[in-house]
Amino acid sequence: MTQDEIKAMVARAALPHVLPGSIIGVGTGSTVNHFIDALSSLREGIAGAVSSSNATTARLRGHGIRVLEAGEVEQLALYVDGADEIDPHGHMIKGGGAALTREKIVADLAQRFLCIADASKKVEVLGRFPLPVEVIDVAATRIARRFAAIGGRAVLRKGVVTDNGHPILDVHGLAIADPPALEAEINQWPGVVTVGLFARHRAHACLLGTPEGVLTLQF
Ligand code: 5RP
Repeated sequence: MTQDEIKAMVARAALPHVLPGSIIGVGTGSTVNHFIDALSSLREGIAGAVSSSNATTARLRGHGIRVLEAGEVEQLALYVDGADEIDPHGHMIKGGGAALTREKIVADLAQRFLCIADASKKVEVLGRFPLPVEVIDVAATRIARRFAAIGGRAVLRKGVVTDNGHPILDVHGLAIADPPALEAEINQWPGVVTVGLFARHRAHACLLGTPEGVLTLQF
């Protein structure tokens, strides 16, 4: 089984979690792309989707799925998204696809975050995957120095501007022992738009794809 086949399998396994007639929050990335393709089979059975990126919006609309703005809904029962890393508590690093800000906004609307990922994303401690941070450009140097002071090496992601028009720093070398505390700390730094640490907005469950099948982790 290729990694892409595993991603497709885990994406299909998320379909039974979608409540009939509901509006669903939809994340961004290659695993979520498989989920959107699978969701098209339920098109008539859902009321629509709130999207976390321009790329996801285009794919949803391509399948004839109605897309609503985040401001049009008060609450979502479910948000489905991938992750770059997930720890044993459901804390995640996200933003490899540069969609972290809107992903966190849509996750915040949802009562339940269902992570869909292949087994390579499961780690004991977050931080081997460089932590993405969307920043206001004039603050990038100051923020990079703050990361250096806590042992991180921030690298500007070349050629990437987010859907919101901002650059991304990828921070290498952090071993994140306390994700909620680090997220709260970085959120205080002026010029940080969003840190791709999803601790407060952690996953409630994760469907983890392995060559042997799909494991369900509850957090
Ligand atoms: C995008 C994300 C994605 O969820 C993350 O990068 C995982 O992507 P993939 O499913 O392609 O491995 O956070 O900003």
